[in-house]
Amino acid sequence: MFGFIHLRSCNKLKIRAYVNFALIKYWGKKDEGLKLPYQTSLSFTVDKLYTETEVIYDKNLYQDIVIINGKKDEKMGNRVAKHMDVIRREYNINSYAHIISENFVPTGAGLASSASAFAALAYAATKTYGLELSKTELSRLARIGSGSASRSIYGDFVIWNHGDDKTSVSKPLDAKWDDFRVIVCMIDENEKECSSSDAMKKSVMNEELYSNWVLESQKDLSEMLQAIENKDIEHVGVIAEKNAEHMHALIEATGTKYKTEKTLEVISKVKALREKGIKAFYTMDAGPNVKIITIESEVAEIKKNLLNIQMIVCKAGFDAHEV
Ligand code: DP6
Repeated sequence: MFGFIHLRSCNKLKIRAYVNFALIKYWGKKDEGLKLPYQTSLSFTVDKLYTETEVIYDKNLYQDIVIINGKKDEKMGNRVAKHMDVIRREYNINSYAHIISENFVPTGAGLASSASAFAALAYAATKTYGLELSKTELSRLARIGSGSASRSIYGDFVIWNHGDDKTSVSKPLDAKWDDFRVIVCMIDENEKECSSSDAMKKSVMNEELYSNWVLESQKDLSEMLQAIENKDIEHVGVIAEKNAEHMHALIEATGTKYKTEKTLEVISKVKALREKGIKAFYTMDAGPNVKIITIESEVAEIKKNLLNIQMIVCKAGFDAHEV
């Protein structure tokens, strides 16, 4: 057994995990360390944006060496090393490692790079060590790195249960919807000023507004499940938009603002498209970028109407996998 682990840990192995965008958002933790959410969320994992990570254990190291996009990144490096400590503790791994991660997505711009990053890390760190974790276990481990990462273990539509450390894991939704699309509108690739973790904490502290958010978002969730089952893009779009708007109203009421002038401009263009009968709806996360929710038959018209915006048209992505 030990020989096997030793052999695997010498091998190079790269894991790719894809970004997911929430249609029903996760916003607020009841346990900061374990990253347990107050509510169940639902997302769509996309094909075009992802992270690839290698973990190379090295007995000669006295700390982890973290390289992200070819550079040492102190802030993210500390977070990654902290998560590696969790993994080492849970699986009795007694070696530091070189962690080499490449984001095929702009880091920190509200494009959920921490989701793909921590999913890839949890998978790579355990698999390289010779451990074959189930997807449920990987989802839990990824969650402890970054909440939304629990969903990036799976492709396509995914639901992440609230609950306790054992039960707060994601699972794929049994929904095949081939022409569903998310168009990422690149507004700003720069690092966001306020991390989602900090903004979440402020939201949770406002008990009245926050409890209303939890209540409403869970009503949105049951409607969303029905709308996805019916492949009803208008219903999916309306609920997702309402859910994102509620989250941003809460964020703004508790002192953080992610929307920029450009964000508002794109949002009003999406709404104008709808006036013309085009099925386009929006969602946004903890950053300025807007994601348009639509179906394939509307994509060409949407592109024609938003010519000056850089867009990435995404289909359903895949479960995290070895590359
Ligand atoms: C707005 O998963 O980045 O994207 O758990 O603190 O790492 P931490 O937060 P993170 O939060 C993502 C919040 C969101 C909504 C969502 O993806 O559900």
